[in-house]
Amino acid sequence: QKIVYYDVTDSTNVQAKRIAEEGGMHGTLVVADRQESGKGRRGRGWDSPKNTGIFMTMLLRPTVKPDEASMLTLVAAMAVAKGIRLYTGLPAGVKWPNDIVINGKKVCGILTEMNTEIEYINYVVIGIGINVLNQSFPDEIKDVATSLLLEKGEPVKRAGLIEAIWEQFEIYYDKFCSKGNLSEIKEEYNSLLVNLDRQVRVLDPREPYEGTARGITDGGELIVEAEDGIRLVSSGEVSVRG
Ligand code: BTN
Repeated sequence: QKIVYYDVTDSTNVQAKRIAEEGGMHGTLVVADRQESGKGRRGRGWDSPKNTGIFMTMLLRPTVKPDEASMLTLVAAMAVAKGIRLYTGLPAGVKWPNDIVINGKKVCGILTEMNTEIEYINYVVIGIGINVLNQSFPDEIKDVATSLLLEKGEPVKRAGLIEAIWEQFEIYYDKFCSKGNLSEIKEEYNSLLVNLDRQVRVLDPREPYEGTARGITDGGELIVEAEDGIRLVSSGEVSVRG
């Protein structure tokens, strides 16, 4: 593994993609103390001021098929949740597919991007933004966002947490690669899943519906028990509330 550290960059995802285009190797971890144009999902930004968070991106060249790559985000999400639990003792959980929450509030978001050919993956970058030392949040998100400092009441060391997360990621990643699916780790994913046995509202663009989340499949889909039977929700297609 190789760590590339920056005091400031535009976005660790963008930087990791540049490194990938120049032949950067599998397992490179790009870390920055601050991002000038941090990116969130759905074209949103990710506020990244100095000395607040972990802003990092893992560069992978997985040998799995392109259609299996979406599961990597779930692997990363469980590594973050587990790493936070082990390193801080805080009850971090995963909100399917890939937000990490503590006491109902979001503490980490993940943005995965990939470059694939039809038959194989060229590279995948998994960007992880964790609120670590934030003392407060802007009004628009203060009811839904939290930080490790706010939850724990004392500062958490970023370098140590990065190491703990990476260690967990390696364990889960190897198990995922050996099968090409989540069969070996889904039980643990489900144990970290905050939606488990909870009511969820699936914002399907065709027709939203409600049901009870029952965990994930080997392929990473969310199993939802709806009125008319079991439905499988693919990540990306829809967003799940509740
Ligand atoms: C989300 O919208 O929940 C995903 C946020 C992802 C933010 C991280 S911070 C490190 C990496 N670099 C980026 O520009 N974005 C991701």
